[in-house]
Amino acid sequence: MYKHDGMKLKERINIAQVSRGRMPLILDGDPGHDDAMAWMLAASADIFDIKAVTTVAGNKDLENINRNALRICTLFGIDAPIASGAAKPMYGRVITGGDFHGVSGLDGADLPEADRELSEMPAVELMAKVLRESRQPVTIVSTGALTNTGILLEAYPELKPKIRQISIMGGGIRNGNWTPAAEFNILVDPEAADIVFRSGIPIWVSPLDVTEKALIYPADRERFRSAGSRLAEIIGGWLDFFGSRHEGMGWEGSPMHDPNAVMCLYKPEIYTVKDVYIRIECSGEYTRGAMIADFGDSEHYNARVLMDLDREKFVEELLAAEERYR
Ligand code: RIB
Ligand code: CA
Repeated sequence: MYKHDGMKLKERINIAQVSRGRMPLILDGDPGHDDAMAWMLAASADIFDIKAVTTVAGNKDLENINRNALRICTLFGIDAPIASGAAKPMYGRVITGGDFHGVSGLDGADLPEADRELSEMPAVELMAKVLRESRQPVTIVSTGALTNTGILLEAYPELKPKIRQISIMGGGIRNGNWTPAAEFNILVDPEAADIVFRSGIPIWVSPLDVTEKALIYPADRERFRSAGSRLAEIIGGWLDFFGSRHEGMGWEGSPMHDPNAVMCLYKPEIYTVKDVYIRIECSGEYTRGAMIADFGDSEHYNARVLMDLDREKFVEELLAAEERYR
């Protein structure tokens, strides 16, 4: 199918399980309703120590994403530096999500104004600083295009040992969502994704194969609304907006993509996973951005892919995260 790296990756890659003690974390994304829900999980689960938040264009342009990131971190009390990242992919043309997440990118609820500013440091420099200064290897959770991480790996290869694992929401093995072959986050920057998957760093992948089963139904949304807190009301408004977008496309529930990239790190037991060798297609008129998984090779893998989940437990944890804020 394609040339493997040669070395048996099983020896080289020890996919990191949930570590003891607090896990240093960098949150990298393009908020976006589901990015916001992922950051809520990370901020409320006491296993994580959020060292930095970095932004990347995708769902909206970078200026909009930065505004949303500052407001989400204000809302969830994420007290970490927030740095503006890539406004466009490493190569290729810019793709943004249009108004799928609304005009603001977080339509459906009124958020408090931000009470903090962006870091003076660009995202990749902040990521490198966190890696250098962290006593233990750092986990990167990326829920947008992988541009910031791709540039980080190219610019600072000597810092790879300081990255414990990378958990991404991205790709679709069975299908895409922005094209038949490609999922949005990977399609925005396939070259950056290719760098990440060739890096030898342990990777957790939440592809559409699992995130399109992580459905939030109207009854689930009602459970947030009836929780009665201001935050639950905001989340209920986000879920209603996100749900209406998907119901308009014929979905009965809305796929809550990004939170899986955080939840798998501290609740791996609710997922069915498969260790697989993945490559990213960077050319091809119809296949650019496709995630190609070699299920036929049991000897080599570079990623732990979430293939299925216990949806009820997924929803329960989202509700529990909101409750932890009360
Ligand atoms: O394809 C879904 C992904 O694209 C999610 O991360 C969503 O927020 C958008 O970034
Ligand atoms: Ca996202």
